[in-house]
Amino acid sequence: MRQRVVDVRFRTVAPRPIGVFDSGFGGLTVARALIDLVPDQDLVYFGDTGRYPYGPRDLDEVREFAIEIADHLVERYGIKLLVVACNTASAAALDDLRDKLAIPVLGVIEPGIVAAAQVSRSGRVGVVGTVGLVASGAYPQSVDEHGLDIELTTCACPGFVEFVERGEVDGEGIAVLAERLLSPVKDADVDTLLLGCTHYPYLARTIADVMGRDVVLVSSADETAFEVRRLLVEDRTPGYVGQHTFVSSGDANVFEAIGRKLFGAELAGARQHRWPS
Ligand code: DGL
Repeated sequence: MRQRVVDVRFRTVAPRPIGVFDSGFGGLTVARALIDLVPDQDLVYFGDTGRYPYGPRDLDEVREFAIEIADHLVERYGIKLLVVACNTASAAALDDLRDKLAIPVLGVIEPGIVAAAQVSRSGRVGVVGTVGLVASGAYPQSVDEHGLDIELTTCACPGFVEFVERGEVDGEGIAVLAERLLSPVKDADVDTLLLGCTHYPYLARTIADVMGRDVVLVSSADETAFEVRRLLVEDRTPGYVGQHTFVSSGDANVFEAIGRKLFGAELAGARQHRWPS
């Protein structure tokens, strides 16, 4: 049987993009996994660098930001699916976004914890994330909701995100901080550590060195991208190469310079979106 080839040159209806957002650069780890897994999809990435970090903020405020970004992505870009590529925003706003929007909304918490529970052999799983995320109790709640038989140790790592936002992903400073902040999950003797902040995969080398080679690191970024691929199974266009748009609420030149360092040269032509003050 001959394979069906879709000639995308004659596409008459513009494809609608997937919308992805985070407080800053962290969600680029999810965007990267999405581009690799569903390369035929258009994608708009919004980094709220003008208002980062979300971790130390009140969850109500993070919820307002998340709704504002989602509205912008729907109205300006006509997105067909929203990926909340931020654990803190997922904890704060996922339910509200699902109630409000007429498109599917995916967060990063559920795919990550389900995968971590599957990977763990001892059942002792650690989750590291922002202060806001850990305080929200979103991960223990998700463990209960899914009836996962694991012993969970959560631990906040304030300071990690700031390193990534400066484009600094290795060095002595991060190593010293990681050694101190990761001690609760090391002491709990976990065999699996879920990176419960989308910025943290950029620090995976240092985190892995501190945890030791017997501990498996699970990235919620990859697991969320698998979920998106499952959801879009009927909506693929083989041969089409997706267009990727990057938007920042901070300085677009700075966003592009640091973003390219983290994400690669494909991050080009970053647009600026100014929130009304
Ligand atoms: N990347 C975000 C997360 O996954 C948080 C970063 C921040 O504190 O702004 O939680």
